[in-house]
Amino acid sequence: MAHEDKYRRLEELREASRKGGGEEAVQRQHQRGKLTARERIDLLLDQGSFVETDAFAAHQCRDFGMEEKRPLTDGVVTGHGLIDGRRVFVFSQDFTIFGGSLSEAYARKIVKIMDMAMKVGVPVIGLNDSGGARIQEGVISLGGYADIFLRNTMASGVVPQISAIMGPCAGGAVYSPAITDFVFMVEDTSYMFVTGPNVVKTVTHEEVTLEELGGASAHAVKSGVAHFTSPDDATCLAQVRRLMAYLPLNNMEDAPATGTRDDPRRVCGKLDDIIPEDPNKPYDMKDVIAEVLDDGEFMEVHQHFAENLIVGFGRIDGRSIGIIGNQPAVLAGCLDSSASLKGARFIRFCDSMNIPLLTFEDVPGFLPGTDQEWGGIIKHGAKLLYSYCEATVPKVTVITRKAYGGAYDVMNSKHVRGDVNLAWPMAEIAVMGPKGAVEIIFKRDIKAANDPAALEQQKVAEYREKFANPYIAAERGYIDDVIMPSETRRKLVEAFALLETKRDQNPPKKHGNIPL
Ligand code: HXC
Repeated sequence: MAHEDKYRRLEELREASRKGGGEEAVQRQHQRGKLTARERIDLLLDQGSFVETDAFAAHQCRDFGMEEKRPLTDGVVTGHGLIDGRRVFVFSQDFTIFGGSLSEAYARKIVKIMDMAMKVGVPVIGLNDSGGARIQEGVISLGGYADIFLRNTMASGVVPQISAIMGPCAGGAVYSPAITDFVFMVEDTSYMFVTGPNVVKTVTHEEVTLEELGGASAHAVKSGVAHFTSPDDATCLAQVRRLMAYLPLNNMEDAPATGTRDDPRRVCGKLDDIIPEDPNKPYDMKDVIAEVLDDGEFMEVHQHFAENLIVGFGRIDGRSIGIIGNQPAVLAGCLDSSASLKGARFIRFCDSMNIPLLTFEDVPGFLPGTDQEWGGIIKHGAKLLYSYCEATVPKVTVITRKAYGGAYDVMNSKHVRGDVNLAWPMAEIAVMGPKGAVEIIFKRDIKAANDPAALEQQKVAEYREKFANPYIAAERGYIDDVIMPSETRRKLVEAFALLETKRDQNPPKKHGNIPL
C-alpha cells in the first residue's frame, strides 16, 4: 500500500471514529435535548485543546452477532485537554453507540486515562450517559466497572474527580460517580438509581416515575447525591469549568490563587447592621458570605440539600477557600444529620486538596427529635466533628451570633485546632441558650416563686447579660479577638495570609476510623 493510501486510510478511520453511532443516533440524542459526547467535550475544554486517546478502540465481543458491529471508540471518548489553561483528563460516554454501555474495551480506555491522571497529577472529569453494563459482555463488563471503582477509590484525595450525569446512570454504575468528589446532574435528561421504577414497583409496590425516583431534583434536594443541577448540558459543563477554577490539580499543589481587584481592606459596613436586635430573628448567612468574599462571588455546593448549613467555594484576596456557614434562616441554623454529612464531606474534600476552611458560625445546637436521634444524629454529628478535628489546612472561624453547646465545639472551635477564631460583639458563646439554661438551673426557684413568669424573665435577662457574650471565651483565649462585623474582610485577609505557610500533621496511621 502506497503512503498516500495509508494516509487516506488513517483519515477514513478518524472520520469513522468521530461519527459516533451515526447520523440517526445523533439526531435522536439531540431530540432528547442532549448533546453528543464530543459536543460536550468541546464545551467543557478550552477550544482546540482536546487530545484524544484510543480513538480506534473496538470491543472484542464475538457473541450475539456483535462481531458484525464494531464501531470505533466503542462508546466512550477519552483523552485530555485544558480548562482555563490547566490540564484535565476526561471521558465522555457516547449514548449513540450501544447506548453508551460499558464493555471491556471501553472500561480499559477509562482505566488508562485514570492511571495517567494519577501519574501526572491532574483531575478526572467523567461525563456519564450510559445504559450500564454492556449486556452482551456479561461479567467481563462487571469486571470493567470494578476496575474503575478501584481507581476512583485510589484517586480519591489525590486528584479531584468530578462526575456530570447527562443521561442514564443506573445499577452498579452509579457507584463510580458516587465515589467521586462532585456530582453534577442535568434536569429532565439525567437520572441515577440503583434499581429503576419497575423493580421498585415489583418489590415495594410503590409507583414512582423515573424523574421522581432518580432525577436531578430528587438527588439535589432529597438524597444529597447531586451537588449541582443545571437546566441543560451547556450550563452543566460551564459549571464544571467554574468549579475547576477553585481546585488545585492534585493534593501536592496549593489551592489556586488568582489576582483580585477587590480591596483586601474593604470595610463591610453592611455587616454592622445585619444581625437583628432580637436574637431569635433570622438573617441570611449568604449575605454575610457574599459581603466578605472577593467580588461577592460564592459558588455554592449542595445548594438545595440540608439548607440549614451552607457550603461552597469563594476567594479571599485571590486565594481559593472553602466556606461552611450555619444558616439561621433555615431551621434556625440547627445542625441535623443531613447538614452534618454535607459539612463533613465538604471539609474532608477541602482538607484533602489543601483548600483552607472558613467557618461562619451561628448555631443554637443540634436539632432535637426522634427522627434525628433514630436517624443517627449522634454518628452523623460525629462525622462533622471528626472532619473538623482531623483537618490540617488553615482553619478560621467567625462566630456571628450563637455558638451553643456541642455545636460550639464542633464548628471549628479553638479546641479542635481552629487557627484563628474571631467573634462579633453580639456572639453568644455558652452551654445553651438563656431560656433553656434558666429552666434547668432555676427550675425549683421558678416553681416556688409568686410570679414564676416574672422570675424566669429576670433570670433569663441575667443569664443573657452574664454568659451570652463573647468575652468569657475571649478571656480564656478560646476566641482570639472580638471584631466589628465591618472589619471582617480585612481580618480574614490577614488571617489567611498568616496561615499561608501553616504546616500541621496528624499522627502516622494507616487511616482513621471516621464514624461512618
Ligand atoms: C447493550 C444497550 C444497553 C446495554 C442500551 N443499549 N443499554 N446495549 N447493553 N446495557 C442499546 C440498545 O439496545 C439500543 O441499541 C441503544 O443502546 C439505545 O437504547 P434504547 O433502549 O433504544 O434507548 P432508550 O429508549 O433511551 O432507553 C435507554 C435505557 C434502556 C433506559 C438505558 O436502553 C435500558 O433500559 N437499557 C438497559 C439498562 C440495563 O439494564 N443495563 C444493565 C444494568 S446492570 P440499538 O442498536 O437498538 O440502537 C448494570 C450493572 C453494572 O449496569 C454493575 C456495576 C457494578
